[in-house]
Amino acid sequence: MSSLRFAVIGDTHYCTMKHRPAEFPTGDYERLPDSFRYSFMTNTLRTLAQHIRNEKPELLISTGDLIEGGADDEEDVQTALALFAPCAPEFLYTRGTHDPQRETAYRKFRCGNSVFLILDYTNWNPKQKEWLIRELEDAKKAEHLFVFAHPPLYLFGRHFFHNPQFCTETAEILRRYPVDAYFCGHTHNQGISFHSGMLQVVGSAVGYPEQKTIPLEELHSIPDTPEHRYLWGIVEDSSPGFWIVDAEGETLTIRWHSLKGSAELRVRQRFGFPEILSLPPFARECLPLTDSDRYQIRSGWIHFFSANKGARGFRMSLNGIDLGFAPESTCYAARRAVILPENALRKITERNELEIVFPQSEVFAAGSISLELLLLDGRTIRSNVAPELFVCGNHPDFEYARSRSIEVRPGERRKLALSFPKGTPSCIC
Ligand SMILES: [Fe+2]
Repeated sequence: MSSLRFAVIGDTHYCTMKHRPAEFPTGDYERLPDSFRYSFMTNTLRTLAQHIRNEKPELLISTGDLIEGGADDEEDVQTALALFAPCAPEFLYTRGTHDPQRETAYRKFRCGNSVFLILDYTNWNPKQKEWLIRELEDAKKAEHLFVFAHPPLYLFGRHFFHNPQFCTETAEILRRYPVDAYFCGHTHNQGISFHSGMLQVVGSAVGYPEQKTIPLEELHSIPDTPEHRYLWGIVEDSSPGFWIVDAEGETLTIRWHSLKGSAELRVRQRFGFPEILSLPPFARECLPLTDSDRYQIRSGWIHFFSANKGARGFRMSLNGIDLGFAPESTCYAARRAVILPENALRKITERNELEIVFPQSEVFAAGSISLELLLLDGRTIRSNVAPELFVCGNHPDFEYARSRSIEVRPGERRKLALSFPKGTPSCIC
C-alpha cells in the first residue's frame, strides 16, 4: 500500500512596504491598501512555513497569490520562493490574481501513483482546456487525482465573486473524471465542501493569527444542497492556516492546521462522504441578546458585503434611525461595516428592522448582512446573518449566486430583519 504526504497553502500575499508609500491616514481602515496589512503578516507566514517544514511533506503546493504584487514583483517572488521552497523537496504554485504574468503556467506533476494537475485560471483558453481533458483521461487509473487552481469552483462565502468563464467550464469537466479533491484559494476564507464525490478545499495563509476562529456561516448565508455539501468554513482574515493531506492507499486524511489549532477529516473510500474527526476551534458569537445585554451595549455595527460597479450610495436605516451611506466596494469582500450612532444603539432589540435604499447604479449586488455588538463585559455578540442576497444588472461576478438572489432596481427600498437567535431572520418587505 503506497503512502504520500503533501501540503497545500492558500493565498500568502507575501509583500513588504519596500517601494510602496510610507504613510496612510489612520482611522480609515476600509481605504487602507491591503499591502499595508499584509506586510505585517510576513512573520505569520514565516511561522506557518516552519510548521509546514516540521510536517515533512513530499510536496508543497501554493494555490496562488503567492505575492501581493504592485511593488517590485520579481523581488517579492524571489523572497517568497526562498521562504516556501525549502519546506518540501518539491514546491509548485498555481498562478493567482496578484502573481506576475509569465509563460503559461499549467502543468502535471506525478508523485508515487498520484497525479497533480496545476491549472492557470489567468490564461484559461481552448489549448489549456484540451490539455486538461487529455491529462484527466490519462489519469483515470491513478491511485489519486488532485487538481489545483486559484478560484473556488463553488462559492460559499463571497457569493458575488465569481469567475464563470474558468469555474463553470472547469467544474463541468471535473465532474466527468475521478477527481479526489480540488484545492484553491482566492476568496481568503477557508473551508471544505463535498461535491458528489469530489472535495473542494479552500485555503488562506494571510490573516490575523490572534483573531478568533469565526465560522463562515455566522457572516454568510451558506448554500447547502445534496449535490454541494458544506462541511465547515472560516471567515476571511481569521486563523491563517494550511492543509496537510495524507494518502494511505485509498484512504485520504486531510488536516487543516493553523496557529490556533487544527481540524481533521477522513475519506476512507475514494469519493465517499468524509468523516469529520475534529472541527476548527470555532468561537461562536451568534448568540441571544438578553434583556440585561441590551442595557450594556458599548458599540455596534452592521456587517455589509456589496459590489457596486457604478454610482455610489447604499443608504441604510436601522429601526428608523438613519445610518447614512455604507462604505463603497467594487468587489464583494470583507471589512465593510456601518458604525451605529448612539441613538441607533438605544433602539436595538432582539429583532431589528434594517432598511436599505439601493444606489442609483445599474450594476450592483449586496448581501451577507448582520448586526454585531460589543458589550461592556467585553463579549461580542452577533445577530443571525440575513439570508437575503440582492442583485441588480448583469456582471460575470454575480452569475453564481443569481438564482438565489432577489432582483432589485436602482434606488429601490427593501427592508429585512436582523434578529438575534431565538427569532428567525426573514424578509419583511
Ligand atoms: Fe488573494
